[in-house]
Amino acid sequence: MSASPEKPAHNPAEAAPPVPRHVAIIMDGNGRWAARRGLPRFEGHRRGMEALRNVVRIAGDLGIDYLTVYGFSSENWSRPAAEIADLMGLLRHFVRRDLADLHRNNVRVRIIGTDEGLAPDLVGLLAEAENLTRDNTALTLVVAFNYGARQEMARAARRLAADVAAGRLAVDDISVERFAKALDTADIPDPDLVIRTSGEQRMSNFLLWQAAYAELVFTPVLWPDFDRGAFEEALSEYQRRERRFGGLSSAIG
Ligand code: FPP
Repeated sequence: MSASPEKPAHNPAEAAPPVPRHVAIIMDGNGRWAARRGLPRFEGHRRGMEALRNVVRIAGDLGIDYLTVYGFSSENWSRPAAEIADLMGLLRHFVRRDLADLHRNNVRVRIIGTDEGLAPDLVGLLAEAENLTRDNTALTLVVAFNYGARQEMARAARRLAADVAAGRLAVDDISVERFAKALDTADIPDPDLVIRTSGEQRMSNFLLWQAAYAELVFTPVLWPDFDRGAFEEALSEYQRRERRFGGLSSAIG
């Protein structure tokens, strides 16, 4: 979107536009990337994993504090068993191959979603990744795996209901803030920017509560092709937007 002539996107006298504190990404288009090359879908996911490694590095370089990626959705269980096994295998591979490197780079790993249905060895690996990196202070990499926002909100409602039933919580004390603390993301700030690759323009059950005021950027780039240039383009788009959080435009009044 181009800025209007009366109102430049940035006042050059102002400080550099802020880097979003939390970027969340729906990494879409691995299958199409592979199909266009006559390759198996697995190859698309494998190249998608490489794109993810690269993006984690860039996010750290740019000073982004939180990067959340959608690795496997609650709805992905409806894919063929072989593809599900491939995605689980890639996550295993990611943790085994990259964990030491992430730790060396002071990256903290967090997993959101549920263990339900995951193989016990994978649950163990994910716990190991979180435990090893829990005190790291650079980028927090949040991997949404076996995650769905509606399922997460239902889990939060069950936690609150259990607290009410046990007499630990009054019904009238269930506020927006208290609800947010019952979500998987309790200690994670809301995303400022959600990027979806591959030209699709929907949220697909990703961070529906947390993204209430996020800027949404959709790019036609397929995820395995999402490189530094594509990332910086999405960040520039974010920086051109004016965030109002339900208030009035700064150009009014
Ligand atoms: C969407 O592409 C992508 C996924 C369902 C999984 C994303 C996984 C990775 C980037 C690699 C593994 C990373 C982790 C953290 C496990 P799609 O298959 O829906 O592509 P399509 O829409 O073109 O078919």
